[in-house]
Amino acid sequence: MAIASFCFVTSGLAALSGVTVGLYLGLEGEFSSVPVHAHLNLLGWVTMTLDGLYHRGIRREDYRLGWTQVGCAAMDFR
Ligand code: HEM
Repeated sequence: MAIASFCFVTSGLAALSGVTVGLYLGLEGEFSSVPVHAHLNLLGWVTMTLDGLYHRGIRREDYRLGWTQVGCAAMDFR
């Protein structure tokens, strides 16, 4: 799988989860999970989308460093 596709799929899953947690927070009035919501949306959705756009625009010979960056980013927001 291309790095950019991995970023976009991951960002979509994070957006879905983040917004679901946000709806739960709002509807239940239970705010202890605000950090989970914020991280899923900002690091998961927004940052992974930006990473994906960057990696889609970059052509390189060796993808190992790119996968390392994206792998660390994916582990950071979960
Ligand atoms: C259906 C969509 C969403 C709902 C229902 C929702 C709901 C909420 C709720 C209820 C809170 C807690 C507010 C409070 O502590 O008083 C919150 C906080 C937050 N939301 Fe959302 N949210 C949504 C989408 C988003 C998106 C798309 C982002 C970012 C891209 C985002 C980023 C944040 C952040 C950073 C906070 C923490 C704010 C703070 O601690 O002051 N939310 N959200």
